[in-house]
Amino acid sequence: MPELESFPPAETLAEPEAAEELARLAREIARHDVAYHTHDAPEIADAEYDALRRRNAAIEARFPGLIRVDSPSSRVGGAAESGFAKIRHRAPMLSLDNAFDAADFADFCAKAKRFLGRIEPLTFVAEPKIDGLSISLTYEHGHFVRGATRGDGTEGEDVTANLRTVKSVPGTLTGDAPAFIEIRGEVFMTKADFLALNQAQAGAGAKVFANPRNAAAGSLRQLDVKVTAARPLSLFAYAQGESSEPVAATHWDYLQRLKAWGFDVNPLSRRLDSEAGVESFQTEIGLARSGLGYDIDGVVYKIDDLALQHRLGFVGRAPRWAIAWKFPAEQATTVLREIRIQVGRTGALTPVAELEPVNVGGVLVSRATLHNEDEIARKDIRAGDTVIVQRAGDVIPQIVSVLADRRPERSAPYVFPSACPACGSHAVRPPGEVVKRCTGGLICPAQRVERLVHFVSRPAFDIDGLGDKTIQEFFREGWLHSPADVFRLPEREAEIAMREGWGKLSARNLSAAIALRRTIPLERFIYALGIRRIGSTNARLLARHYGNFSEWRARMLDATQLGSDERLALGSIAGIGPTIAEELTDFFGEARNVAALDELAAGLNITDASRSESADSPIAGKTVVFTGTLQTLSRPEAKARAETLGAKVTDSVSKKTDIVVVGADAGSKARKAAELGVQTMTEAEWIELLG
Ligand code: IVH
Repeated sequence: MPELESFPPAETLAEPEAAEELARLAREIARHDVAYHTHDAPEIADAEYDALRRRNAAIEARFPGLIRVDSPSSRVGGAAESGFAKIRHRAPMLSLDNAFDAADFADFCAKAKRFLGRIEPLTFVAEPKIDGLSISLTYEHGHFVRGATRGDGTEGEDVTANLRTVKSVPGTLTGDAPAFIEIRGEVFMTKADFLALNQAQAGAGAKVFANPRNAAAGSLRQLDVKVTAARPLSLFAYAQGESSEPVAATHWDYLQRLKAWGFDVNPLSRRLDSEAGVESFQTEIGLARSGLGYDIDGVVYKIDDLALQHRLGFVGRAPRWAIAWKFPAEQATTVLREIRIQVGRTGALTPVAELEPVNVGGVLVSRATLHNEDEIARKDIRAGDTVIVQRAGDVIPQIVSVLADRRPERSAPYVFPSACPACGSHAVRPPGEVVKRCTGGLICPAQRVERLVHFVSRPAFDIDGLGDKTIQEFFREGWLHSPADVFRLPEREAEIAMREGWGKLSARNLSAAIALRRTIPLERFIYALGIRRIGSTNARLLARHYGNFSEWRARMLDATQLGSDERLALGSIAGIGPTIAEELTDFFGEARNVAALDELAAGLNITDASRSESADSPIAGKTVVFTGTLQTLSRPEAKARAETLGAKVTDSVSKKTDIVVVGADAGSKARKAAELGVQTMTEAEWIELLG
């Protein structure tokens, strides 16, 4: 593994680098998980592994929009998370293969029969597939001693203390029980409990959960047991792990024993004498689904005879004796009232469909994602359309298609806005990208809070005592709307001191922390502005190139002229390139950004950058003019290079000019240089001078 230190710190990554880095970390961590769990042959020390995970978490915390579907931090079946002790399951916790229609199920049956060399019908136990998280409970001499999450199937997290707070986990089994037994089941939250919890969470300004399954998982995996105890969790028991003695001959009998010991077994579970009954059971549960108090996503069919189960065994991670027949994604028809545009942290404009509320599989849906401009055009989705909405698993509802024959007469194709709905700044979509973004930057209210958080963060202004919560609070108060407002907070010191959670001392400390940052190096200042793609590295490049704030500001404004030399020069700075140049010119092209920038800079002392590369260059501090046509360098390239080496490049020759570089067909400027006695050199001499 490459040393972690050789990668740039998480705080300095710009968004595209962060996305790449998250992809790399996902691959790397997955590889180590396999080495550790599957092959029992770790390639790196635990501490190094933990460092990879922490780096992943730190980048995800900065760019929540980039969190991957296969993120190591949220992977089901991933290695146990730190924070909980690890527990190795005695018998592995397996997953199930899926069937999606009757043909898949018939195929599963045929394979099992072929394997067993049997033609008689099979008896099945059918159980609703609960959408929660699976856990393993260990009982010794009838007492609950350990409970663990599934983890990667081999090893999970020790959540014993948390499980003790769940009412349907018996502390002691009733009646006869083996000396040792692992019992498996699903922890879940009912739909009603989920809604009530989210309401309470929202009221308290705390995190709301996307669905009952996330709420159940989040509630169980709490390091503070008191939090779990306050959450309404339930359990259905449905499988066995290892046991010191056989407890039943059939799965059905096993379920009866579970009940006798004191577990809840799903009341809709049924024994089916042959596979002939499966299809109608599937339909029956499918119809009952939306009326159930908890989420299910299919039906699990298990061969009842445990001796047959034993003979059939497993392929990979799934048994040959059971299958999950999943329900199709839930759909409903409704009317799309309007298309609204949401503005994200980085200014991304995301279209959202506002729908006539409709019940989709028991959940009231009133909004659906439309992804982006192209998606709307591809499906030709318009306001007033009747659409098919789909909810698949925990995915945000989507629009599947439009019912064209129900389209109102005077409907027009949707036109994606070219201005930000939150601030009116123009929105741009770079070629090759699908996302349109607001260029409002500092002045867009939708982006402000997040940008303020970035502004005061450690690698930017690094203001102690101004955390995310405080920023939100002060934003709501109207005290903190633009970066310049940060430096006005000391004027409110008395008011701040009186707020809940504050006092004279902490308010004074905040004022002092702010005062301390009135002097700031140029590179931090540039980084703090939160311009897209300008992370610490690029901010440093810019600062070193332009040297001081007023120079940088002036050149950026010049560069907003499309096709100008300054624009090309900006894109020629080593490490910057045309894409980043465009982000900068977009930012400076918005007059209100420049106004906010000036307001901010007026109250600060922005210190010049050290031009490290230029310090010992032969042209440091010299004023240079290029004239005529250069052969090996483009004019903007020559300019950028000269500036990087500490020279100042101007257009006209005067007494202050130190060097005039004369290209082919040079005219009046070369003559003027000769008149004034200014040093001239050819392009070749110039290149030689620079080495
Ligand atoms: S049996 C070897 N029964 O589905 C079979 N699983 O896709 C072990 N699940 O990880 C599982 N309800 O979290 C079984 N009645 C049920 C289930 C059930 C939900 C979940 C469980 C498992 C996943 C497999």
